[in-house]
Amino acid sequence: MSFNPEKMDLPPRPQLFDFHGVSMTHYFTDNWENVQNFQARPDDILIATYPKAGTTWVSYILDLLYFGQMAPEHQTSIPIYERVPFLELSESIGNSGYKTCTKNNGTELANNLPTSPRLIKTHLPVQLVPKSFWEQNCRMVYVARNAKDNMVSFFHFDRMDMSEPEPGDWNNFFQRFLDGKMVFGSWYDHVNGWWKKKQTYSKLHYMFYEDLIEDTGWEIDKLCCFLGLSPSAEEKKQILACVQFDNMKNNNMTNYSTVPFMDFNISPFMRKGKVGDWKKHFTVAQNEEFDEDYKKKMKDPPLQFRTEI
Ligand code: A3P
Repeated sequence: MSFNPEKMDLPPRPQLFDFHGVSMTHYFTDNWENVQNFQARPDDILIATYPKAGTTWVSYILDLLYFGQMAPEHQTSIPIYERVPFLELSESIGNSGYKTCTKNNGTELANNLPTSPRLIKTHLPVQLVPKSFWEQNCRMVYVARNAKDNMVSFFHFDRMDMSEPEPGDWNNFFQRFLDGKMVFGSWYDHVNGWWKKKQTYSKLHYMFYEDLIEDTGWEIDKLCCFLGLSPSAEEKKQILACVQFDNMKNNNMTNYSTVPFMDFNISPFMRKGKVGDWKKHFTVAQNEEFDEDYKKKMKDPPLQFRTEI
């Protein structure tokens, strides 16, 4: 689907507001009652990330691990955002696939998923995750990405996704990121909050985008170990091929090209897929300011990120 703003009745870009201490837009709070009361099942798998940390990549890996051997239509006609519903999203983002719900918000999509286990995506900071996921002792996979590349990816995403707040220029965005005035709040609070949770909740697998880039196969092995899966060597080989950046970029079911309010002329969803792209965006002064500020905010020594590999 190509983007044509003149033919579309696009609502204005949303405003950020404070929601239980976290910056949000109405797209993620309008369905809050249903989100909060969502009934998780013990075999649900929650994929949690700060936006732009590699959510789609890991969602697709998990989808292939569980459903890669299903009828080909599953892979060829249902976009990944319907196979892995975005829990707190209050409105439909595309059209096709599972037409089983009346409204296609995240909770309804999840409740109507015909596949099991349900793979569910969230960007919520840990303290806002609906309590039934904890009560049901669900498995959770958290993906974290170094703040510099995460920021750059988020900037380009906000430029092209008309349902995001106006990004402003890069300098302005840089400052907002440091101040935590982003949709889903502060990167620093998000990665630290989930990291802390891992110390007490054993069913949480915490992984890093940079590790996935460095050795996707090894990260898939670790994921399988966590999930109790043992794909054959052939299946693993197929999965590794499917989840390569270029293949996902060319796959209409994983590249978000079916979403009408993303303008790929500004920036594609599958943009670069690299570690270290921040160097092309940060000025020397910004890098110094960032590093100084980072030291103050990131005080947990075991949580280490790599900004280059
Ligand atoms: P860039 O904008 O830096 O390219 P999310 O899915 O959380 O929105 O994250 C999107 C980011 O993950 C984008 O980063 C995208 O290119 C990257 N990504 C998605 N699939 C990938 C893959 N198979 N390999 C590497 N990066 C991938």
